[in-house]
Amino acid sequence: GTVVLAYSGGLDTSCILVWLKEQGYEVIAYLADVGQDEDFEAARAKAVSLGAKKVFIEDLRKEFVEEFIWPWVQSNAVYEDRYFLGTSLARPCIARGQVKIAKQEKAQFVSHGATGKGNDQIRFELTCYALYPEVKIISPWRLPEFYNRFMGRTDLMEYAKRHGIPVPVTPKSPWSMDANIMHISYESGILENPKNHAPDGMFMMTVDPSKSPNTPDELEIEFKNGVPVKVTNLGDKTTHTSPLELFMYLNDIGGKHGVGRIDIVENRFIGMKSRGIYETPGGTILHEAHMDIEAFTMDKEVRKIKQQLSLKFSEQLYNGFWDSPECKFVRHCINKSQEHVAGTVQVSVFKGHVYVLGRESPTSLYNQDLVSMNVQGDYDPIDAGGFIKICSLRLKEYHRLQSSMVPK
Ligand code: ARG
Ligand code: SIN
Repeated sequence: GTVVLAYSGGLDTSCILVWLKEQGYEVIAYLADVGQDEDFEAARAKAVSLGAKKVFIEDLRKEFVEEFIWPWVQSNAVYEDRYFLGTSLARPCIARGQVKIAKQEKAQFVSHGATGKGNDQIRFELTCYALYPEVKIISPWRLPEFYNRFMGRTDLMEYAKRHGIPVPVTPKSPWSMDANIMHISYESGILENPKNHAPDGMFMMTVDPSKSPNTPDELEIEFKNGVPVKVTNLGDKTTHTSPLELFMYLNDIGGKHGVGRIDIVENRFIGMKSRGIYETPGGTILHEAHMDIEAFTMDKEVRKIKQQLSLKFSEQLYNGFWDSPECKFVRHCINKSQEHVAGTVQVSVFKGHVYVLGRESPTSLYNQDLVSMNVQGDYDPIDAGGFIKICSLRLKEYHRLQSSMVPK
């Protein structure tokens, strides 16, 4: 049979490619460009030299931003109050591309290099099964005949040398990374001990906030339908409007000022806790700005319902259920909630923080006359007295009755 392997160009998936061939499969290598820093042509050459029948390199950056990151911006979704879900968002995008190639090439099998302990295996496979129900998935890291043979990195290196797989010249970093246009995650290796601090020089998208510039960058971010449509640097007046360019620009500015670093312990879907370090520069700026314009334009009760959906969405996303009916429904509702989320937010990006400076919107629900101390507006203060009295009814009863109860 033919198998489409999600290939990264690294040692693990190179060994998997050769191992799949050894098992008698024809291997098609599939590389998704979701914005990671990678020499794709070198990876193509490597896959060909290892005997891949075909190699597909798909630039998914635009669809990743527009169809995955933008719904995330609309949602304000945060997993366990802190994680912005950069890896969780990329997986269904990558797997969707893989399924497309598999169907087009009439391949019955797909394969990936995610371990048997993590979230990524679940995310990849749920999307593959959802979009290609007949597919057969080969997960080498869950097959005893594979993982018993490749217990550690030395086994992989030894196998690589024996099979003419180029072994990386630079020593592998003592942690695992997952990079895309939204974030880089760092985990495992020396980071497994949750007490160990992230070493100097680990971060690749952001500078250390203590070494970031002493003058802020001020940006104006314009939103329509809850997604950014224009970013203007108020200093040098540069503007960006295309989603991809705009997002990359926010990564640059956020990175320059050390925005979006977190170090957390999180709960994997599979049941264990894991320690992860993340940097999400552009995503953090958008999260702060979007929260602000949303608060300015959205009805109070709609906002409360939407907040519940956001929590649901974060779990669906983290657990790999992007292509489920419930997640589709939640995305639809969230998108609906964003109809009037429009306007501009001005922010200052400085020393690891995003400070909101002001906002303006044609669809705001803010009524300056109504809230002003100086103007009466359509509001009679006498009504507030009645409102408070009615609200206090229950409180008075509770305390009166409780104080007259005889303690047992
Ligand atoms: N813990 C994060 C998540 O589950 C990041 C996973 C990183 N994946 C990786 N293959 N290094 O979304
Ligand atoms: C992996 O296990 O492949 C990476 C970590 C994760 O998926 O959670």
